[in-house]
Amino acid sequence: MKASAIAHSNIALIKYWGRAQDHDPTLNIPSNDSVSMTKYGLDDIHLQTHTTIEFSNYYEEDTAHLDGEVLSGRHRDRILRVIDPLRKYAGVDSKFKMMSKNDFPTEAGLASSSSGFAALAIATVNALNLDFTKEEISKYARLGSGSAARSIHGGFVYWNKGDSHDTSFAHQICDPEEFDMNAVIAIVHEGKKEVTSDVGHNFAHTSPFDEVRIRKSEEQAQEIKKAILDDDFTTVGKIAEENCKYMHAVMMTSTPPLFYWSPETLRLIRSTPEMRQEGLDCYFTIDAGPNVHYFCRPETMYDLQKALEKIEGVRKTIPVKPANDSHVTERHLL
Ligand code: DP6
Repeated sequence: MKASAIAHSNIALIKYWGRAQDHDPTLNIPSNDSVSMTKYGLDDIHLQTHTTIEFSNYYEEDTAHLDGEVLSGRHRDRILRVIDPLRKYAGVDSKFKMMSKNDFPTEAGLASSSSGFAALAIATVNALNLDFTKEEISKYARLGSGSAARSIHGGFVYWNKGDSHDTSFAHQICDPEEFDMNAVIAIVHEGKKEVTSDVGHNFAHTSPFDEVRIRKSEEQAQEIKKAILDDDFTTVGKIAEENCKYMHAVMMTSTPPLFYWSPETLRLIRSTPEMRQEGLDCYFTIDAGPNVHYFCRPETMYDLQKALEKIEGVRKTIPVKPANDSHVTERHLL
């Protein structure tokens, strides 16, 4: 009972920030629908996680390793939140060993948990021989990390918030080839974040702007889905940029307030109109960290990358295109 999977991380165009207040918080049922692009790094960093899991009666305890380190505490608990219900569903009581490798720094605002829990859910479902659709796998990935629900699919993805474990899952809007959009990530800081998204979600509802953000995000999720299907890059970019600002307004005005930007982040935001004036059609988004993703048409990507590299404080850039579906692999790590 062993299987391995490779999963890609994703960047949200419409953000998930805050869990619905009337549900068990461990289910990660979000307060609004969200939309993302699953990403594939075009240089040596592909922004993906490779995970192997094996269930066996020879193991005396459950063990999980990430990048060579044994996981404990909240990291181990989140892994068990995905594996335990699947193990129960399959009627298996063997212990497991899990090995996982990210090809990028963990918790650096590059969404390591989206690819991590997507890889874990795919590998576990396959190791336990469960005949699940991608949508069903998405529900279990969500239990580890909300955004992982979207990383099961490639291309452009819609997570329907739902109102229960059974109705909250992601589906694909379109394949990577169907909408021409790439991105460049401007890395300004690579350290771990002070307040992880997992914790930050708990504070969203304390902001007086949260209700407005939720209502606008619901509208924008529909509008952006239409614009993706119409291949309307400008509308997609503008909506994504607006939605990111709404999320950060909520973060900054919650209790406690969360300021994820660094001076370099603001410098990038303020350089954006100038880059556009110079003909670089690009729009930014920022997650729970200081790094900035810029969306662009594929033909603009390398010029955009050069322009970003000239901005003070940008340490590295990573060009990305939409990834294919996350998938099972025969390459095992144990
Ligand atoms: C800002 O709870 O999925 O990236 O803490 O990495 O598990 P982790 O993140 P998660 O929250 C993601 C928050 C976000 C926006 C988004 O991806 O929708």
